[in-house]
Order: sequence, then structure tokens, then C-alpha cells
Amino acid sequence: MSLTQTAIDTLVKNDRGGFTIPTAGLYPYQWNWDSAFIALGIATYDMDRAWAEITSLLDGQWPDGMIPSIIFRSDDPAYFPGPSRWGSTPGDIPSTGVSQPPVLATIVRQLTEDAPTRRAQVFDQIFAWHKWYHEARTVDGIVATVHPWETGRDNCPEWNIGLDQMNIAPDLAPYTRMDNKHVNPQYRPTQEQYDKYLTIVQFGDSIGWDQRRLTDEGPFLMADPNIHFVLLRADKDLLAMAQRLGKAAAVQDEIKGWIAKGEAATDYLWNDDLGAFTARDIRSGVFSSGFSNCSALCFYADAGTPEQRARVLDNLRRISGAVEFMLPSWDPDAADFEPQRYWCGPVWPQMNYMTALGLTEQGEPELGQQIRDDLCRAIEKSGFWECFNPLTGDGCVGANFSWTAAVWLSWQHETKLEGVA
Ligand code: GLC
Repeated sequence: MSLTQTAIDTLVKNDRGGFTIPTAGLYPYQWNWDSAFIALGIATYDMDRAWAEITSLLDGQWPDGMIPSIIFRSDDPAYFPGPSRWGSTPGDIPSTGVSQPPVLATIVRQLTEDAPTRRAQVFDQIFAWHKWYHEARTVDGIVATVHPWETGRDNCPEWNIGLDQMNIAPDLAPYTRMDNKHVNPQYRPTQEQYDKYLTIVQFGDSIGWDQRRLTDEGPFLMADPNIHFVLLRADKDLLAMAQRLGKAAAVQDEIKGWIAKGEAATDYLWNDDLGAFTARDIRSGVFSSGFSNCSALCFYADAGTPEQRARVLDNLRRISGAVEFMLPSWDPDAADFEPQRYWCGPVWPQMNYMTALGLTEQGEPELGQQIRDDLCRAIEKSGFWECFNPLTGDGCVGANFSWTAAVWLSWQHETKLEGVA
């Protein structure tokens, strides 16, 4: 069977009726940014079903505009922390109390170029989500994050600076992890990290998930280049949609304000010692120390100065000489690089997708192609895994993974279209 057919079969098998799970067992619910990438993949063979992926995600939106990281339509005892641990959340459907990188607007723009009615149908909800990021999650003009899970890069070493400053809640309710029952525990976050993740959840629940308070008073407050650059690009795509839809000047001006603020805040994440964009602890101002797989998303967001971009490219070339498969999630020259542990080294399909796209758009097509080809080689070698060892291309963590299948399909489809043209 062709890999393209296997990719379609993977998405069909993970379909739970209007929404798609990332993979059975490990992740049995709808995840926010997963669904956006999944829609891109499904759109290559069934646009109506792709659209349902997007509207079902929007069904989980909170009254304050936030779209949570996970929408819980059931309570699966094989998953922790599920709905009961997150407590009472204000959306129509139980959910987590944090968000995820807002890639949705960018993907909706792409899927609705010829579908203005659909675009109009979802515009206000996506606008409300961006507004939430710029109001409830922003501190002094910097978009913040309150939980490593919100960044989508759960246990990347970038978060150690913020986590090291936190204490585990002395009254942390006891719990049993489930993530390390489904997959090799060596791939997963450590116990101390997990206790801290749950300390933040317990704090959020204790303040009734008041998002402004969670940002201002929560135990963890960092800025993330992933959220920053994904939102900046998404704001630009939202503006393009607002213009095409003829939205009121006030709406367009508000989005323009967000973009200007985002452009100005880009320097805040510039780690000059490293020559890369890295995470930063907002309270202490301390930068993370390593090049991650979102350090080069400045290209994707069309941001950063020519000098900054040149130094990021130097780092990419150095890293490319140290691994067999680009783009590792953590610097292979760093002491805490671990090629199989989740966000401490493995290659992530959705990150390669965004980084390759940005590089190609911004005049670095060879590097973009390499990042794309390396992921395809890993998939050809190992199949549709959640992520891949950058030294060997072996699959890590979850198998039969939806966003890996989706990225593959989207690239195959583009290739075919280019071939036709
Ligand atoms: C992990 C990843 C996160 C993803 C989720 C579901 O938690 O870190 O980015 O959304 O799995 O695939």
C-alpha cells in the first residue's frame, strides 16, 4: 500500500465522528493545534470533513474567546489529567484551562481562499481567540504562556528556567500518570516536571480559571517563540481574511495593532548570545539557553532583522551537520539533548512543516527543502510516528499519528499540484 493511502487510513481510523484524535490510547480527545494540521491533511481528499474538524474545534471555545488545548467529549479513564482534574471550565464542552499555539487562522485562510461563506462563518470566533491572546495572555506587550502544555512543546528544556522557580504545591492532590503506561516512559517527561505541570493546573482550578489572574498570578510565566511567531503569522492571515471579507475598519485596525505589537515584541525573544530566538522567563528576564525547533520560526512569521535571520541560518547549518534528520527539537550540541525524549531532541512533523514553509517563502528554499525531505525520509523509514529520533529517523512516542499523516498528505498534494501546473 502507498504511504499516501496509509496516511489517509490513519486519519480515517483516528476519526471519532466530526473530530480526529492524535492517536488512539495516548491521546483520546480532540487537541487544538493538532486539529488545525489535521484539517489541512483531510482537505486533500475531503473538504467537507476537513471543515468539520475546524468547526468542531471551535465548538470548544470559551465565552472569553479562548480555545482550549484539549476538548473532552468523554471521560476516558485511560487518560490523565482528564476533565475531572481540570475542574469546572466555562466552555459548553469540558476542556483543559490553557490554550495552544493559534495556527488555526493560517490554515483556515489557506482552506477558504475560494470559500468566502465558510470563511465568514468562523471569522468572528477566530478573531475572539486572538483578542484573548492579546488581552488575557499579554503582559506589557509580550504574549505570555502560563503552562508548558500551552506552548505545545511540553517538556522542552526551554521551560526549565520557569519550572525551576516554581515549587510543587504542598497540597498537590495525589494522582496516577497514564502517559507513561501507553509508551516507553523514557520518552516522556520526568516525575518532577509532571508534579509542576499539575501544580499549575491546581492553581488555575483554584481561581476558577480566571485567565487574567492565571497570567498575572500563576506560578509559571514565560514567553514562547512558538506561540509568538505562530500568532504573529496568524494575525497577518486574520487581517488578510478581514480585508477580503470587508470587515469594519475598526476590526481591521485592531488586528493591525496586534501585528505592530507582535513585530515590536520580536526583539524581546532575541537571544543575542546564542544568535537565535528562544524562550524567556518574563518575571526574571532570563533567556533559555538552547536552539529549539521554533527558533527559526521568524521566517514563518516574516519577522526579525536581516542580521538576526543570518545568525539563525548559521545555527541551522551548524545543527544540520550534527544530525541525520532535521530539525531536532533541541540543540544537539546542548548537554541536555536527548534524541528520544519527547521535546528534548526528536523531530516534530508540524514544526518541520512550519519551518520549511517559512524558509521557502523567505528566500531559503534549499534549507526549506532539506527540512521537508528529512521528515519525509524519516516517515519513509519508520512510518507515521508522533516524532522521530534526529540521529536515526526511528519513530518515537505514539504510532499511527494524525498530524504526521496530515503533513505528509499536504506535501504530497502540493507536489501533485505543482506537477500538474
Ligand atoms: C503532546 C504534544 C502537543 C500535542 C499533543 C497531542 O502533548 O506536546 O503539542 O498537541 O501531544 O498530539
